[in-house]
Amino acid sequence: MMTVKEIANTYVERYQRNTIKEYKPGYHISPPVGWLNDPNGFSIFKEEFHLFYQYHPYSSVWGPMHWAHLISKDMIKWEWCPIAIAPEEIYELDGCFSGTAIDDNGEHVLIYTSHLHPNPGNKSVYRQQQCLAKSMDGVHYEKSSLNPVIRTDEIPEGNDLQDFRDPKLIKRNNIYYCVVASKSHDGSGQLLVYESEELSNWKYKGILCSSENLIGKMWECPDVFSCNGKDVLLISPMFMKQRDYEFSNLHSAICVLGNFDLDKPLFEIENYFEIDLGLDFYAPQTVLTSDGRRVMIGWMQTWERNYPTNDMKHNWTGAMTLPRELSIVEGKLIQKPVREIEAYC
Ligand code: FRU
Repeated sequence: MMTVKEIANTYVERYQRNTIKEYKPGYHISPPVGWLNDPNGFSIFKEEFHLFYQYHPYSSVWGPMHWAHLISKDMIKWEWCPIAIAPEEIYELDGCFSGTAIDDNGEHVLIYTSHLHPNPGNKSVYRQQQCLAKSMDGVHYEKSSLNPVIRTDEIPEGNDLQDFRDPKLIKRNNIYYCVVASKSHDGSGQLLVYESEELSNWKYKGILCSSENLIGKMWECPDVFSCNGKDVLLISPMFMKQRDYEFSNLHSAICVLGNFDLDKPLFEIENYFEIDLGLDFYAPQTVLTSDGRRVMIGWMQTWERNYPTNDMKHNWTGAMTLPRELSIVEGKLIQKPVREIEAYC
């Protein structure tokens, strides 16, 4: 019997020819057929860039999420790889949601959120838990038999048991940290930090930072890093209130500058602003290149907008931005297309 992943790969192989190429981007990543949203697991493994994304092959609208997988030498020309993970285990039947990846001493480790409606008749109740998949060759990924590794019963008391997703994995001094987006009971966004010595047994450490209902509602897709001597947090808060020309979309992607301490844990906010004032930008992720550049890629869309190609005729939806080199200059985020694009001009 074919696995869920094999069925999805066979479907892509067969139906990618049926999309209409009329509006298909020439150099932005877009799906061969079906629906694309967030970038996932942007990382370097075996000297190549890996990018995964939230993917529903079977229709051009969102559905149970798979992780599509692409590899590149220069972040411009991407090669399609077999789908890396598909919703096939009992704990994730409604989707493998967003997450991140690291190269862990020659093993490519993906961390993602399993999404499940425990009562299939009631879509308003769901559970989200954190899971692992690993690969030695960067092509074939196996899920951990210990999944889910951060479970609903490890959400600290007083916090929402449903919205708990989009893990960011960090390894420092042989300790793993996982930053997970969550919601407090007043519906406000926050980031929880977990710690582990071996990726399977996680201990809750505390709240890294929270919205206190001032910076939108649920925060999605956290990324955290240092750049030009500043600590930076990227998050995608839902329902940000408009501020002059900023946050005019329903959901926004923001850059927070401040001071970051994973051990306390604490991210002290100094300042925050929208990353992209356009209409179509959400859920960005970054990678650190071997020559020290911090590069970001984002979903060139956001929720609750028009998706002009998601009909039976075009049969594909969604694209990524070009990867952008980031720097922080005088408290501002400077973004430039990656210099690799120059080789194509
Ligand atoms: C952000 C998001 C994530 C979730 C994924 C589901 O766009 O809502 O929070 O993991 O998309 O596809």
